[in-house]
Amino acid sequence: MIEHLYIHIPFCPNICPYCAFYKESAGRERVETFLDALLREADAWAERIRPKTIFLGGGTPSALSIPQFEKLLGGLHSRLDLSELEEWTIEMNPATVAADKAALLREAGINRVSMGVQSWDDAVLKSLGRTHDSEKAEESFLTLRQAGFDNLSIDLIFGVPAQSLESWRSSLERSLRLSPEHLSAYGLTYEEDTEFFSKLGRGEMAPDEGLEADQFELTSHLLGESGYLQYEVSNYALPGRESRHNSAYWAGKDYLGLGPSAFSTVGSRRWRNIRETGIYSETTLAGKTAIDFEEEVTEELKSRERAAFGMRTLMGVDKEDAKPWESDLLGMENKGLVSLTEGRWLLTPRGRLLADTVAEIFV
Ligand SMILES: C[S@@+](CC[C@H](N)C(=O)[O-])C[C@H]1O[C@@H](n2cnc3c(N)ncnc32)[C@H](O)[C@@H]1O
Ligand code: SF4
Repeated sequence: MIEHLYIHIPFCPNICPYCAFYKESAGRERVETFLDALLREADAWAERIRPKTIFLGGGTPSALSIPQFEKLLGGLHSRLDLSELEEWTIEMNPATVAADKAALLREAGINRVSMGVQSWDDAVLKSLGRTHDSEKAEESFLTLRQAGFDNLSIDLIFGVPAQSLESWRSSLERSLRLSPEHLSAYGLTYEEDTEFFSKLGRGEMAPDEGLEADQFELTSHLLGESGYLQYEVSNYALPGRESRHNSAYWAGKDYLGLGPSAFSTVGSRRWRNIRETGIYSETTLAGKTAIDFEEEVTEELKSRERAAFGMRTLMGVDKEDAKPWESDLLGMENKGLVSLTEGRWLLTPRGRLLADTVAEIFV
């Protein structure tokens, strides 16, 4: 039985200039057809999944209207065995949170929300092309609390041009005042095919690596002081509030992805669904496979990926499992990036700054 389910909802009310996740603007007809297709795809897998975690990601799942949510959530409940479900997360954009929607989601069994606040500084929000301001973000957070959500996560982005260290500090402090159970702090990446990437190419934007490193260190320090565990390079949680879904993914467990562009890994197979929503819907509703890419995942590849993900987490990598990369790791140890502690290779605080470079030795 597959225990981890990801569902991709590809619609956004507004397209942010830095984001490369597969998404498009929502038209009503298109959403209805997409929901029919998604439920059809769920039908095909119903016998093989009993999820412990579900993650409704995007795009912006919270962009769906109440009737659309009723169709989606009702459809999932009637098709899937949810008797072992422990964690059901939905990603929400603060601009799309409302009390009636929050109540419906809670009633349907969703028990965790990850909200993309990005920053509490209105000037930074504007430069990120966000449609909400900090006041709306706070109101949305409180609305979710009032609806009974006791497991809330906030996404923040640092390394944004024109975002000073002080602006970042006050975003962290304002987040902490709301006491979320979980925080994700991502360094801005310039993803191909985004407006920011083009601006970078034209020299209209320039990353400041020194400032970004200071912001990263401040994050570990401030959140650590407040009792949050940096259980992965970009993720912080109060004890016991780590994301179970993402932890399963990093541990190399099987997962099924439904919806356009979603990846799945089951046994020795990995595949990706068609990216374009219209074609995904049409193909699925015609009873054909929505897969547009497939590969074999050998045991060797699995152990490389487990090591690369594991290295980014608090668990690190077991010394025995890391034998094939021992000489590289010893080189990294000499540079002060990793250390061997109680039989496990772990990132040092300096190594966390260069986590991607360290993880590269495994792939
Ligand atoms: C798929 S988005 C879903 C959240 C929701 N759509 C929203 O924007 O509020 C997940 C998170 O990825 C992060 N993200 C997206 N693109 C990024 C980038 N280029 N650099 C850093 N973080 C990024 C943002 O923090 C965002 O909240
Ligand atoms: S950051 Fe969120 S709202 Fe913005 S485009 Fe990406 S998925 Fe959509």
